[in-house]
Amino acid sequence: MEFLSTAKLPFSFLLLCIATSSLNQVFAAEVCKFPAIFNFGASSSDTGNFDASLFEIKSPYGETYFHRPAGRGSDGRLVIDFLAQSLGLPYLSAYLNSLEANFTHGANFAEAAATILPPPTVLPVHVGGFSPFYLDIQTSHFQRFIPRTQFIRQQGGVFASLMPKNEYFGKALYTFDIGQNDISVGVTANQTVEQINASIPNIIKGLSKNIKNIYNLGGRSFWIHNTGPYGCLPRTLTDFPSIEKDAWGCAKSYNELSQNFNHKLKEAIVQLRKELPLAAITYVDVYSVKYSLISDAKKYRFEKPLVACCGYGGDYNFGSVPCGGTVTENGTDIFVGSCEKPSTRVNWDGIHYTEAANKVIFDQISSGAFSDPPFPLNNACLRND
Ligand SMILES: *[C@@H]1O[C@H](CO)[C@@H](O)[C@H](O)[C@H]1NC(C)=O
Ligand SMILES: *[C@@H]1O[C@H](CO)[C@@H](O)[C@H](O)[C@H]1NC(C)=O
Ligand SMILES: *[C@@H]1O[C@H](CO)[C@@H](O)[C@H](O)[C@H]1NC(C)=O
Ligand SMILES: *[C@@H]1O[C@H](CO)[C@@H](O)[C@H](O)[C@H]1NC(C)=O
Repeated sequence: MEFLSTAKLPFSFLLLCIATSSLNQVFAAEVCKFPAIFNFGASSSDTGNFDASLFEIKSPYGETYFHRPAGRGSDGRLVIDFLAQSLGLPYLSAYLNSLEANFTHGANFAEAAATILPPPTVLPVHVGGFSPFYLDIQTSHFQRFIPRTQFIRQQGGVFASLMPKNEYFGKALYTFDIGQNDISVGVTANQTVEQINASIPNIIKGLSKNIKNIYNLGGRSFWIHNTGPYGCLPRTLTDFPSIEKDAWGCAKSYNELSQNFNHKLKEAIVQLRKELPLAAITYVDVYSVKYSLISDAKKYRFEKPLVACCGYGGDYNFGSVPCGGTVTENGTDIFVGSCEKPSTRVNWDGIHYTEAANKVIFDQISSGAFSDPPFPLNNACLRND
C-alpha cells in the first residue's frame, strides 16, 4: 500500500486537510485508511451475486486471470477488484454467495442486470429482463447486513471471524456503479432517445435516495462512478446499425444520453453534499476514461475497440448467441469463445470491458484526475470544504 508523504502534498491541500480535520476526519498525513468496501451496482462490479443467485456465468468468462469462471462479467478482474487490491483489501465477496463468503473487509451487493429503479420485467436477461435485485433491494440487504453480522460476531463460533467489525461501517468506502441498465430498460421497451432522456431525472432521484439511506445507516465516504458511453457498446451499435456515428464510430445520440445522465448525477451530488454534512462524496468520471479507450486506443495499444472479443457474428462480433454459448451454422456447432488476445482488446462480450481495459480504467481514476473533488482514491474520506 502506498502512502502520500506530507512533503509531496501541495500547500492548498494541507490547508484543506487541516480544515477538514476539525470535521472529525483523519489528518492528511494519515490519508484515509479504509478498512472495508461496500459496493452497490450492476455487472460492471458484480463479483458473484448474479452467478450465485440467478444464472451461472460460464467459460470463457474468467479465463485470463482466474483461469475459470469467477462470477464476473469479464475475462478477468473488474475495476472493483483493482480498487480493493490497491487499498490492500481482499477481493469483495458477493453478499448472495453463501458458499464461499468472507465479509471481514466488506461485501458486494452489486448484481448483473440490476437497475436503480424497479425494473419493468425481471429475468431471463436474454429476452430483455432485468435483475430483481435493483438498488433499493441492494440497500435493504445492506441494512439487514449490519445487525446480522454484528449478532454473529457476538455469538462467536465459526462464522464470527468472517464478519466485519462494527467500527468498519463508519470508516468504509461505499462504492457505486449503476445506471446503464436503466437506460437499457428504455431501449428494450423501444423508447426513443428523447423518451429515455426524459426518464433520467427520476432515475437519478432513485440513486440519491439510496445514497441518503446509506448515509443514515452510517456510511460517510462515497465513491460514485458515472455511467459509460452507451453509444460505444458493440450491443448498441449492432441494435442500431444505421444510427449516426461520431468520429470514432460510436452512436452519437446514445452517448448524449449517457452524458445527460452524468450531468444530472453531478448536480445531484452537489445537492447531496449540502444535505449530508458529514459525507465525503467523490464523483468519478468513468465515462471519459472509457471513451478515451476508444478514441485513444492506439496509445493504450488496444485494437478494434468497438468489436467484442468474445462473441459471434456481424460487424461488432455480437449476435443473438452470447459469449459462452453455442451457435449452429451449416449444421455444425460452434462454441462462441474469446478472441486470440483479450489483453489487446477493450470490449469483452459486447457489453462488458476486458480485464486489460478495467486495469487502465482503474489506474486512471485512482489518481484523482477524473474525480470531483480531484483527490486520489486514498483521500476519498476528505470533504472539499
Ligand atoms: C477471511 O478474510 C480475512 C481477511 O482477508 C482472512 O484473514 C481470514 O483468514 C479469512 N477467513 C477464512 C476462513 O478464510
Ligand atoms: C420492440 O421492437 C421489436 C422489433 O420491432 C419487437 O420485436 C419488440 O416486441 C418490441 N418490444 C416492445 C416492448 O414493444
Ligand atoms: C436531454 O434532456 C436535457 C434536459 O434534461 C436536454 O438538455 C438535452 O438536450 C436532452 N438530450 C437529448 C438527446 O434529448
Ligand atoms: C456456412 O456456409 C456459408 C455458405 O456456403 C459460408 O459462407 C460460411 O462461411 C459457412 N460458415 C462456416 C462457419 O463454415
